[in-house]
Amino acid sequence: MASLQARHDEPVLLEMEREGRERDFPIIGRNVGVTVEVLARSIGARRVMELGSGFGYSAYWFARAVGEGGEVHCTDGDPDNAEKAEGYLTRAGVWGRVTYHVGDAVEQMAGVDGDFDIVYDDIDKHGYPDAWRAGCERIRVGGLYICDNVLWSGRVVEPDPDRNTSAILEHNQLIADDDRFVSTIVPTRDGVFVALRVE
Ligand SMILES: C[S@@+](CC[C@H](N)C(=O)[O-])C[C@H]1O[C@@H](n2cnc3c(N)ncnc32)[C@H](O)[C@@H]1O
Repeated sequence: MASLQARHDEPVLLEMEREGRERDFPIIGRNVGVTVEVLARSIGARRVMELGSGFGYSAYWFARAVGEGGEVHCTDGDPDNAEKAEGYLTRAGVWGRVTYHVGDAVEQMAGVDGDFDIVYDDIDKHGYPDAWRAGCERIRVGGLYICDNVLWSGRVVEPDPDRNTSAILEHNQLIADDDRFVSTIVPTRDGVFVALRVE
């Protein structure tokens, strides 16, 4: 419990959460943050690819999990987010584990060699199916695909889905139909898809 308390108190984490609230910027938040750290630690993740990193809030949790010498590859189309992430994650003492790639997330992932322990997807929702198609091929057996907002405030069960909702539905079905992965939707906050590569 001591480490949980430390997380609550860490000033840089509280600042990032304040920025999220003040700008209405959709960070994963504390509950999903703790969840992804637990998931990453549970598979001994050392190499994480983030698709859609914003100002580094989700990367903070992955960077904690991978430990000294681990790698978190962040991606975002907005260079201002990269700059903010560097500031926050330097102060959190984990910037040395992070490489931040500015540009389209899926294209940036293609430029990084090797497999990943985790591919985490949090880009614009219409991009989810392509992010899955590209990301699933890069995950080692025993690794995880994690994706936020897959319940989309319940819109995934409403009739007449819009473009983003249709894309999330397509994405979710693609994962469910892929026999290489066993998967579940964890109903924390806006729904987190967790898919474990088994073959
Ligand atoms: C939901 S926010 C990410 C929040 C972050 N994962 C967190 O929890 O701290 C989505 C971010 O992805 C970026 N983004 C959306 N679509 C993208 C794409 N196709 N390529 C690169 N960045 C993208 C946006 O600029 C935005 O910063």
